[in-house]
Amino acid sequence: MILTCTACAKEHDSGLPQTVCGDCGQPLQADYHFSTGQLSRDRDLADIDSLWRYHAFLPPLPASERVTLGEGMTPLSTAQLGGITVRLKDETGNPTGSFKDRGLCLAVTMARHYGFERVVLPSAGNAGVSAAAYARAGGIACRVYMPSTIPASFVEEVRGYGAEVILSGSTIAEAGQAMAAEINSSWFNLSTLKEPYRVEGKKTMGLEIAEQLGWTAPDVVVYPAGGGTGLVGIYKALGELRDLGWIDTPLPRMVAVQMEGCAPVVKAFSAGAADIDPWPRPVTTALGLNVPSPMGGAWMLRTLRESGGTAVAIAESDLQGARLRLAEASGIEAGPEAAAAWRGAERLLDEGWIDPEDQVVIVITGDNSRY
Ligand SMILES: Cc1ncc(COP(=O)(O)O)c(C=O)c1O
Ligand SMILES: [Zn+2]
Repeated sequence: MILTCTACAKEHDSGLPQTVCGDCGQPLQADYHFSTGQLSRDRDLADIDSLWRYHAFLPPLPASERVTLGEGMTPLSTAQLGGITVRLKDETGNPTGSFKDRGLCLAVTMARHYGFERVVLPSAGNAGVSAAAYARAGGIACRVYMPSTIPASFVEEVRGYGAEVILSGSTIAEAGQAMAAEINSSWFNLSTLKEPYRVEGKKTMGLEIAEQLGWTAPDVVVYPAGGGTGLVGIYKALGELRDLGWIDTPLPRMVAVQMEGCAPVVKAFSAGAADIDPWPRPVTTALGLNVPSPMGGAWMLRTLRESGGTAVAIAESDLQGARLRLAEASGIEAGPEAAAAWRGAERLLDEGWIDPEDQVVIVITGDNSRY
C-alpha cells in the first residue's frame, strides 16, 4: 500500500504516519494497485461480521491490531420512493448509531499502529462520538472539539466514553481552528481527510453494497455530503472492485446532497469550479452537513463529475416531511442528514434525472437518537 496524493499524485510512505500531501496540501489516498485476478472472492473475504471481512482492501495489519466494535455489515433494505423501489444502506445499526464508526474504526486502528497514545478531531457531532468510542476500545486518549451550539446529548455521550470535550465556535470549522491553535505533534489528528484512513473505513460501504447487489454496482448512489469521506470512499471502493474484475458493471452516478444553508459543493459543482469556496454563514439543523469548508472539496467535485453525477441542495423546511416519509417507507428513525438524502432522491426522480429503471442506493447515514 502506498499513499498517493489525490491532486498531484506524489507518493508518500505508508510506513510512517502521514497527514496531507507534503507538496500541495491535498488529501492522500491509500493505493493498492489492484489488478484483475489479484484477489479472489473465495479466498480473500473473511468470515467476520464486521467491516474487517474486507481486510484485503484495507491497510495490511495483523488481526490483533484491529480496534473493532462490530462496525459495518449493515442491511441494504428496500423501500418505495415516489413509485419506484430504492435500496437503503441503513447505517443506523452501527455501534454508535452512524456510519462514522467505519471511518473512525480504521483511523483509530492506524493511530495505534503508528504508536500514538492520543487522538484529536473537530466534530459536528457523530464523528466525535465514534472517535471517543473507538479510542476507549483501543485504550488511547481522545479529545473532541465541538461547536458550542451542539445538542447536549452529543457532548454527554462523548464524555461518557471517557473523552475530553472542548466547545468552541458555532461550526466544525471554528471548532477546528481552536483545535489547530492548541494541539501539538503528540496528537494523531483524525480530522476529515487530514489522514488517509477514515476514507478506507468508509469505503467499506461501497464494498458491502456491491456484495449485497450480487457483485454489481448500482446506477445511482445518493449521499448526504458534509466532509465527503463516504462519497469519495464508496466510489473508490467500486473502482477497486472494477480493477480487480469483481464487478463489470459501470460505476454509479454519485450524488451529493447538501442543505441550502450550507451548500459549498453544490455551488462549486453548478459553477463548474475545480474546488469549493468556503460557505460564508452556514446554517442548518442537519449538523453533519454543516461543513462550510470541506478539505475534500476538490476530490468530491472530481468524483461527481467523473461519475456523471450531480449535486443538489435541500430546503431546511423540507427536512421534517422527508424524515416522516422515510420513516413511513422504511421504519427507520433516521437523522436529518439521511432525511436530506431521501429528499434529494425524491427531487431527482421528479426532475427526471433519476430514471424509474435506475437502481438507486440512498445512504441512511445515521440515526435520530441524539437530536
Ligand atoms: C449522520 C451524518 N450524515 C452525513 C454526514 C456527512 O458525512 P461526510 O462528512 O462523510 O460527508 C455526517 C457527518 O458528520 C453525519 O454525521
Ligand atoms: Zn499533492
